[in-house]
This record gives sequence, C-alpha cells and structure tokens, in this order.
Amino acid sequence: MAVIDINKLHFAYNGDFVLEDINETIEAGKFVGILGPNGSGKTTLLKCINGLLNPQKGQVQIDKEKVESMDQKEIARKVAYVPQIFSNVFPATVFDTILMGRKPHLGWRPSDRDLNISSDIILKLDLANIALKDINKLSGGQRQRVFIGRALAQEPQIILLDEPTANLDLHHQHEVMGLLKSLSNQNITVIVAIHDLNLAMQYCSDFLLLNNKKIAARGGHDIFRESLIEETYQVKVKIIKDKNIPFIIPLKNH
Ligand SMILES: Nc1ncnc2c1ncn2[C@@H]1O[C@H](COP(=O)(O)OP(=O)(O)O)[C@@H](O)[C@H]1O
Ligand SMILES: [Mg+2]
Repeated sequence: MAVIDINKLHFAYNGDFVLEDINETIEAGKFVGILGPNGSGKTTLLKCINGLLNPQKGQVQIDKEKVESMDQKEIARKVAYVPQIFSNVFPATVFDTILMGRKPHLGWRPSDRDLNISSDIILKLDLANIALKDINKLSGGQRQRVFIGRALAQEPQIILLDEPTANLDLHHQHEVMGLLKSLSNQNITVIVAIHDLNLAMQYCSDFLLLNNKKIAARGGHDIFRESLIEETYQVKVKIIKDKNIPFIIPLKNH
C-alpha cells in the first residue's frame, strides 16, 4: 500500500518550466483523474511519478523514498506505467506482452509463478481467446486491456495510465474505467491522465486539475464549478447533476 508524496516539484524541458511547485499527497487505493488542457503537463507529471523524468527542483517520494534514488527495477515493482498508445508497437503476442510485465521480478528465466501470474491475468481480463495473437492486430479496446494486463503482471501498488480511453468507443471506455475502478477497490492506487471530464467524474474518487503549470484545483466532485471549467478550458459550460454526479455540457459560443 503505497503513498505518493509530490513535494515542491518543478519540471522544465530545455530550461522552460512546464510544471511549477506541484504539491500533492496521494493515498493508497485512490482513483485519481489528472485533468487539464492539452500541454498542461499531465504526461510530464505521470513520468515524474515513475522516475522516467527527474524534476529540476522538488521531488516525488513513494513510501517516503525518493523516486530519483530508486533503481528502475525497484520502481517497477511498485509502479506500473501504461503509456498512451499512438501507433503500432513491436510485434509480440498477447501472452508474451503480459509475461514481459514480470520483468522486474524475473531471474534469467520465467519461473512457474511468473507463468501462473501471467495466465491468471489473461483469464481475468478475458484475453484467453486472443492469447497468441499479435498485439498489433487487436482492436483498440483489446490492446488497452493487454497493456493494463502487462501493468498488472508487475504486481504494482500504483498504476499510472496516460489517456487509456482515448480512441475507444463508449462501451470500451466504460469497460476500461470499470476495470480500473475495480483495481482501486483492491487498494491499488490508480492515476489516469484523462480528457473526458464526464467519464472521469463517473469513476474517479479524486481529481487534480492542471493549468498554467500549476494545480488549479484538487478534490472531489465539488471542484467542478462552471466558472473553473470555463476559465481552464476557455469554453462556456453548463453543469447538471444526475444521481449527484455532475455532468459538464459544453455550450456553443452563439
Ligand atoms: N520531450 C519534450 N521536449 C520539450 N517539450 C516538451 C516535451 N514533452 C512535452 N513538452 C512540452 O511540455 C508541456 C507539457 O506537455 P505534456 O506533459 O505532454 O502535457 P499534456 O500531457 O497535459 O498534454 C507542453 O507544452 C509540451 O509541448
Ligand atoms: Mg499527454
């Protein structure tokens, strides 16, 4: 059960700061939606949390240990990262891709335990009928499930996902978010960068809104006020509630 502490984090690409003074504590088992306009630093923040990028100032700690001073294997045993899928990836079968998730735990060859964990995930995520298929030949929804499966094979305490529902149809968007919710119910911390505010609101427990290099708001559903959304996204909106969940309706300018 891992706690993430982000403390006075500043990150710059080539001297230009894109994140400034980010402070946040994320408790175990939360399902956090990282929101914000394009270029607001969502991907950069995820990469700082799992040590792919090192901040120029400040730090991320996982269970009080600085991520920068952990080695890759050590990080990967705690944190799994599912990057945004842009295009085709190196050809591999579904089974091999999921087994690859065991890498941080492997010796020189997979043990029975590694194979069993991979098989269990294949069954749990309903991938058995495509286990030997090349991942490049799958639909978007299937491929996203495979990459979540690979992340789970790491047996992480934290899963970071970059826009896992982009390019998925409504059914698969809800399938993926439901799967992530069930992981957070098992005390895995789930952090997703996501554009769809309404989808995020139906599933996430906590929200972190990035804008102008900073955290513009954080908290529960209560952060979603019309004025804040209009200021952040520069679009007029109306918020309605259904079963206490706010839904944001963007309005046309005239
Ligand atoms: N590798 C990079 N080199 C230089 N600038 C980058 C790089 N990656 C991202 N940026 C810039 O950093 C800012 C934040 O990007 P990013 O974290 O990808 O935002 P988001 O995921 O919210 O769209 C953007 O202005 C982007 O252009
Ligand atoms: Mg991004």
